[in-house]
Amino acid sequence: MINIAIDGPGGAGKSTVAKILAKYLGYIYVDTGALYRTLGLAIDRAGRCPDSEEDAKKVCQNVTLELKYVGDSQKVFLDGEDVSELIRTPRISNYASRCSALPWVREFLLETQRSIASKNHVIMDGRDIGTVVIPEAQIKIYLHADVEVRAHRRYLELKEKGSDVTYESVLEEMKERDIRDSTREIAPLKRADDAIDVDTTKLDLEQSIKLITGIVEERLKYVL
Ligand code: DC
Repeated sequence: MINIAIDGPGGAGKSTVAKILAKYLGYIYVDTGALYRTLGLAIDRAGRCPDSEEDAKKVCQNVTLELKYVGDSQKVFLDGEDVSELIRTPRISNYASRCSALPWVREFLLETQRSIASKNHVIMDGRDIGTVVIPEAQIKIYLHADVEVRAHRRYLELKEKGSDVTYESVLEEMKERDIRDSTREIAPLKRADDAIDVDTTKLDLEQSIKLITGIVEERLKYVL
């Protein structure tokens, strides 16, 4: 199977680029952040603390979490309910980042991710895909951009969905999440040694897609 890992901080453009690239190549796109977000939502709904391993265990062992593919888009279901949109709020970003620092939660989701990658050609995006989930991935990309640029993109996305967030609050939340995701003890966000570094600070979406598609096509020549 061909596995392409795209890691990087929030707002770097991972999911948008990965989705388009997956469609182009006919691969499955796996948004692993959605899994952590769904557990974050479950913990929030249960009124539990996202920093407590004991709380996370109690909640996660009693819910069902499913990834389904409808057309070419990934949907995530919590106890049978499609929560794909509900998990996109700043509050759930925070819960997801906090519960994702818990070793038990990471272990809980590891097998699901590995199993999808072992059975399909995938483009999987996240924080630890190239370092921990599929270190054997044939192509690894580390996608990043300055935090101000990433926050601005996320702010526009949320505004478009009708959210009344401010740019400052999105920037603060993003900085906080960057620090937590990259300093946690287990599987922190970091570039794999063999990942190709792509900085999208000065690129618009079209340029980012063009650049990454070019990199992937070039690498695939050696892999296939
Ligand atoms: O990619 P995202 O913003 O939807 O991810 C939400 C949170 O989930 C992120 O702040 C950290 C966590 N996450 C993770 O720890 N490992 C992954 N592979 C993907 C996401």
